[in-house]
Amino acid sequence: MKLSSRIDVMKPSAIREAGKLIAAKENCISFAAGLPSPDFIPVDIVKEVTNKILSENGIQALQYGPTKGHEPLLRKIQERMAGKDMKCGIENLQITTGSQQAISFSAMLFIDKGDTLITENPSYLGALASFAPFECNVKGVDADEHGMKMDELEALLESDPKAKMIYVVPNFSNPTGKTWSLERRKKLYELASKYDLPIIEDDPYGEIRFEGEVVPSIKSFDVEERVVYLGSFSKIFCAGLRVGWIMANPDLINKYEMIKQGADLQSNQLAQMQVEEYLNQYDLDEQVKFIIESYKAKRDLMCNLIDEHFPESIKRTHPEGGMFVWLELPEGADATALLPKALEKNVGFVPGGPFFPGTGNDNTIRLNFSTMAPDKIEEGIIKLGELFRDEF
Ligand SMILES: Cc1ncc(COP(=O)(O)O)c(C=O)c1O
Repeated sequence: MKLSSRIDVMKPSAIREAGKLIAAKENCISFAAGLPSPDFIPVDIVKEVTNKILSENGIQALQYGPTKGHEPLLRKIQERMAGKDMKCGIENLQITTGSQQAISFSAMLFIDKGDTLITENPSYLGALASFAPFECNVKGVDADEHGMKMDELEALLESDPKAKMIYVVPNFSNPTGKTWSLERRKKLYELASKYDLPIIEDDPYGEIRFEGEVVPSIKSFDVEERVVYLGSFSKIFCAGLRVGWIMANPDLINKYEMIKQGADLQSNQLAQMQVEEYLNQYDLDEQVKFIIESYKAKRDLMCNLIDEHFPESIKRTHPEGGMFVWLELPEGADATALLPKALEKNVGFVPGGPFFPGTGNDNTIRLNFSTMAPDKIEEGIIKLGELFRDEF
């Protein structure tokens, strides 16, 4: 049987591959997956709202619904967006099955085979995976502590007429935890405008800020309507419900709706109603405050332990929010080769190389701090410190 050419360029996720190795070890301390903390998955509340939905609106919850999304949920999202300086109407919104689906739909909307798609270097692995079937050239632009380097972006845009779309995660990025300055966001917008490109602003972590000033989203100054903003309830409510949204100009939203129709008709109706009912009855902002408090304590714990136990030759980022710390090991180190040695000590992580669209950067590691309990973070980082002190 002959398979499509696109399947040849697809690779299994490095996180899921590392996850398989980690799952094979009993009671392994894992800093690999990017899972929200189990402490904030409100099972009893979801049970209660589900009972209410099924008793009062069971048929609607279990029947087909509109492709665009459940209207009362769209209105709730509209309210939340207005509270974050992104006023919109529901004609600007489309519900998606997590923001992951919105990333893939964005490539479907803007990218043809052979086009250039620009990301940060490194970028979200799930986005890189979702771009692969479109048979485009994904080009990474390096970033420093203020965001993507704009001189490098400009040189790329100048030299590559096939550039069609820019995908960025400006708040507490996955994998580095870095946040873009306002100046970089504005410069990105200026360049996107000059070369007439869409910006896909993926913001699943934006609300989880521990410290520092909120930086305005790119969408908030999008006078030309070239920004497609992606939001998600995964990191602040329940990832398993798979509810996210796109905010963009109505013409683009109509196209996204058409794509969604062909892909899966609609997102899960019950899940949309569960989110909506939760938002009716509970204060999501309160829940976000608890998440921030817990993740900040875990970030502090992990970073302090890294500083205490890792050799000085290992550099780390200092995330002001989100769920990840990024490590740079000495030049020439190979994180993939170190993983089995870490697993012997019952600790897992994801090597950073696969987060780069190109090759190389094998001396990098992503550590997640949201999932593990504090005592496990302590035990795991001390053990990694033992390994790294032997190696470097
Ligand atoms: C940057 C980024 N975008 C999108 C996603 C996908 O999130 P969702 O659960 O909303 O599909 C993730 C998940 O980890 C992510 O880190």
